[in-house]
Amino acid sequence: MPQITFFDQTIECREGANLRRVLLDAKLPLYHGIVSAIHCRGLGTCGTCAVELRGAVSEMTKIEKWRLGFPPHHSDSGLRLACQCKVLGDLTLVKHGGIWGTRKQE
Ligand code: FES
Repeated sequence: MPQITFFDQTIECREGANLRRVLLDAKLPLYHGIVSAIHCRGLGTCGTCAVELRGAVSEMTKIEKWRLGFPPHHSDSGLRLACQCKVLGDLTLVKHGGIWGTRKQE
């Protein structure tokens, strides 16, 4: 089973699982602040579930490319939308600051 490391915690999930669902089921902090109550619920339209990841996930969906293509995101950020990713292997995730998770720490 793939292992996901996020905020110094490691959890397991089944291969092919939706990354957002896995993180929420484990009560890991995918969203910042008020966004945890007002996000798009995995439709791929709000962009607030963005994470930096290392590891194997599914290819970008059309809606993910679309949402990461306009501010505050930009297409070369290297971020992914957890709601659009299927877990295909072990992952290490970083959630950056800001409502959309776009403010990388220096
Ligand atoms: S939850 Fe809104 S884009 Fe992922």
